[in-house]
Amino acid sequence: MWGQRLILVVDDEETQRQTIASVLAEWGHEVREADSGQAALEVVRDQAVDLVVSDMRMPGMSGLELLRECRRLRPDIAVVMVTAFGSIETAVTAMKEGAADFLTKPIDLDQLELVVNRALEMHRLIRENRLLRQKLEDTREGFRLIGGSRVMAEVLDRAARAAETAATVLITGESGTGKELLARSLHDLSPRALEKFVAVNCAALPENLLESELFGHVRGAFTGADRDRPGRVAKAEGGTLFLDEIGDVSPLVQVKLLRFLQEREFSPVGSDLTVQADVRVVTATHCDLEDLVAMGEFREDLFYRLRVVNLALPPLRERREDIPELAEHFLTRYAQRYQRPVRRFSAEAMACLMAQEFKGNIRELENLIEQAVVMARDVVIRAEDLPCRGDGSAESDLPAGLPSVQGDLPGMLEALERRIVMDTLASCDGNQSRAARLLGLTESGLRYKLGKWKPVGDQEV
Ligand SMILES: Nc1ncnc2c1ncn2[C@@H]1O[C@H](COP(=O)(O)OP(=O)(O)OP(=O)(O)O)[C@@H](O)[C@H]1O
Ligand SMILES: [Mg+2]
Repeated sequence: MWGQRLILVVDDEETQRQTIASVLAEWGHEVREADSGQAALEVVRDQAVDLVVSDMRMPGMSGLELLRECRRLRPDIAVVMVTAFGSIETAVTAMKEGAADFLTKPIDLDQLELVVNRALEMHRLIRENRLLRQKLEDTREGFRLIGGSRVMAEVLDRAARAAETAATVLITGESGTGKELLARSLHDLSPRALEKFVAVNCAALPENLLESELFGHVRGAFTGADRDRPGRVAKAEGGTLFLDEIGDVSPLVQVKLLRFLQEREFSPVGSDLTVQADVRVVTATHCDLEDLVAMGEFREDLFYRLRVVNLALPPLRERREDIPELAEHFLTRYAQRYQRPVRRFSAEAMACLMAQEFKGNIRELENLIEQAVVMARDVVIRAEDLPCRGDGSAESDLPAGLPSVQGDLPGMLEALERRIVMDTLASCDGNQSRAARLLGLTESGLRYKLGKWKPVGDQEV
């Protein structure tokens, strides 16, 4: 499945190098040789090397330095170090630095075969695992950030550049514009992608809980703290910490965050201990932080620390050209999730979507499509499947959550009933018997209602 393996043999001593290279070639591997660490790096940069077998002691770049560079450039390449007999300490160092294994001189051929095969196998597993993870990520819903409009392309371009660094990023934008999704993408595109992404909703916790949630606490720090508990910052070590709704953080926690961002260290609640942290911080808010600063509710110094890079997500109404692509994206997602045969929108349905105001931005669009997928009778989503007025104009200004039918109470009640039923059904992943139980209906009762709401006629175009 992986074809021939490419092994790079690095040694300044020609005989030693050629001996290893020719044995490996005899065993059927493709082999390259390099007589120095520098030359080896050139090969690593240009070719799909699977394994590096390198001598430890070389003039110029040492084997250990080469190992570090390889780990930095191509973390998935396996490196086997060859050390002088008896220098077990260097071998241990190499292993700590990420070497797959080591060999001692003089090289025993059985040993070489064993070590090389094991390293190649490990390399294969790591790579396979990464590919699988990638595949999983790609199919994981919501992973793909859609945005072909000029404004979005600009934001995504800046995001991609910010992702390469560990700079602190502040994401701003109205509710439902995709702030959390962007934060995840920043992580997924960053060199920290394989480490953890830890999200904390700062608005969901009261001040004292938030502090210990973030920084952890020691036993006895407060009533109920019966053991040490690490916080989210510690859990995000090496990865990304996403602080959502940062505008809602209390002054006390603001001070702690400021220290953390400035010094890259923190103390768990109830402890004098100082803990270092290597964590990339991304925050998001729908508030105008500058306003909060002006009103004295948010620390100005913290604001500047958070906003090293500011990514501002535009509301959907300012990028209507993204609606069709987003709508198709959600259609595919929910058709798959609910196992519905729905494939496309009728022209009226699309016109209806384009005309919506979308105060709730992408989340609102997503909900609309989800409901429509559940409701659709066949392969096409029609205007009737969407809660918009027949003339295709924007929805009325009824409070969010209420149906858009006006003027007749029975009609409104039915629309409300329909929405409740559809929401419940959606929350049960389309499972009708579960939804019926939740709604206090019999299954046939639910089916009757669903059947009644299936629209008739809609000229497909
Ligand atoms: N560009 C996009 N492409 C595809 N899906 C998106 C995009 N932006 C947002 N979404 C989807 O829209 C929904 C809302 O996005 P998200 O939760 O990231 O918004 P938010 O800005 O954090 O909202 P809130 O402020 O309400 O927390 C999610 O289901 C997300 O997957
Ligand atoms: Mg959010």
